[in-house]
Amino acid sequence: MTITLITGANKSLGFQTARELVALGHIVYVGARDQEKGRKAAADLGAKTVQLDVTDAASIRAAAEQIEAAEGRLDVLVNNAGIPGHVNAAGIPGHPSTASEVTAETLRTVFETNVFGAAQVLHEFLPLLTKSDHPVVVNVSSGLGSIAGVPFDGESAVQSWIPVPGYAASKAALNMLTAQFAYLLPDLRINTVDPGFTATDFNGHRGTQTVEEGAAIIVQAATIAKDGPTGQYLSIHGPVAW
Ligand SMILES: NC(=O)c1ccc[n+]([C@@H]2O[C@H](COP(=O)([O-])OP(=O)(O)OC[C@H]3O[C@@H](n4cnc5c(N)ncnc54)[C@H](OP(=O)(O)O)[C@@H]3O)[C@@H](O)[C@H]2O)c1
Repeated sequence: MTITLITGANKSLGFQTARELVALGHIVYVGARDQEKGRKAAADLGAKTVQLDVTDAASIRAAAEQIEAAEGRLDVLVNNAGIPGHVNAAGIPGHPSTASEVTAETLRTVFETNVFGAAQVLHEFLPLLTKSDHPVVVNVSSGLGSIAGVPFDGESAVQSWIPVPGYAASKAALNMLTAQFAYLLPDLRINTVDPGFTATDFNGHRGTQTVEEGAAIIVQAATIAKDGPTGQYLSIHGPVAW
């Protein structure tokens, strides 16, 4: 049985990914910062759950200890938990931000979850992943993390491109961490994926894709073959330009 942990899996893309991996026979741990939401999601899915706030090092360590005690290893880690890091005046996330909003503090907030959180989860779970004979990591990035996709000439490769400097920089950093880990750990299949613009709470449900469509590339990367690609930036349509 494949043992899988998905962070931020109590709803939206993480929840749909959990649903599909459970259907494929994985033992899925729904990572949720709110234990009650995690329990409910796990019960709905026929999954297990673990309390895990990616911004809380102690909670990540406790989650790793819990999974180690129960399973002895981890086969698949999906670093899915993420925040947009900015809201518009009406409090709706996922809207364009302005240059003047970019401060060390606004960057720190979004990096805390999307970069430092994902990195710390990977750090704490690496010993468990190295006990797997086919360790896989999926970092859930975004097309907005593509530097090549910034439309300097007015043309964007990402249909839903908007200026969101903090969020985009956090996903570009996550992409680089993925590439570096792929180099450092050749036995690991580690890829970074762009789910595409998906209707979830993340963007006030303005996304144009369903969660099934958005989760497709996450599931594909989570079930990648042992000799499959690593260190790639992928969408369901193929490689994304870095
Ligand atoms: N939706 C899109 O269009 C889109 C496009 C490209 C990339 N993405 C990426 O896809 C991932 C999932 O997005 P989504 O649309 O499913 O977002 P979402 O609906 O906002 O769900 C985010 C999930 O992450 C969890 N989370 C947030 N901060 C956390 C923390 N500190 N510790 C643990 N869990 C935390 C949330 O938990 P709570 O329920 O407790 O808040 C929730 O379960 C994100 O990394 C996002 O950047 C989304």
